[in-house]
Amino acid sequence: MRSLVLVLGAGIFAIVPGYAQDAASGEKIFVQCKACHQIGENAKNAVGPVLNGLFGRKAGMIEGYSYSPANKNSGITWDEATFREYIRDPRTKIPGTKMTFPGLKDPKQIDDIVAYLKQFDSTGKKAGIVPAGRTREGAAAAQSVKPNPSPFGDRLTRVFYNRWLFLNI
Ligand code: HEC
Repeated sequence: MRSLVLVLGAGIFAIVPGYAQDAASGEKIFVQCKACHQIGENAKNAVGPVLNGLFGRKAGMIEGYSYSPANKNSGITWDEATFREYIRDPRTKIPGTKMTFPGLKDPKQIDDIVAYLKQFDSTGKKAGIVPAGRTREGAAAAQSVKPNPSPFGDRLTRVFYNRWLFLNI
């Protein structure tokens, strides 16, 4: 019985996008992109274009950035599906691109970078998708390994603890 409940519990976690995709660990993966890309309110074009408001925009559209013809003429509109293919292997998705990054091979890392990038609207503000039942602050508190002084952190800990208990009946 116990293991059945655990399996069901794991299933629930897998289908709720808020748990499958993790913007906080996406931020750590973004360190790899940071060598060439900026994101956020003060982001500027660098080796690569600004990545604000990526989802929904056409490839090659950031003003003032000099794209390769391959990228500019790719005809791609960045949505989750096209971006996932691209970031797994940029030079296969857009042959001739000048992005030399080899790609992210781990599907979980791709989930997380998608969640991270999705937070930023076209002005670089974090207008992000916040998983149901959690606020961004709450998610950050849950990620934090340090004891969190805010009462919110305590409440969140209790919520997670209760959920954990429920999964272990
Ligand atoms: C070594 C530098 C470098 C790294 C590292 C890098 N990129 Fe890029 N990226 C570029 C360049 C250069 C371009 C422009 C490509 C072109 O014009 O062909 C680009 C283009 C892109 C585009 C297309 C943007 C548009 O407006 O069409 C996306 C999306 C992108 N990169 C995402 C990422 C992500 C996410 C990461 C990290 C996982 C990453 N890149 C890592 C250099 C890099």
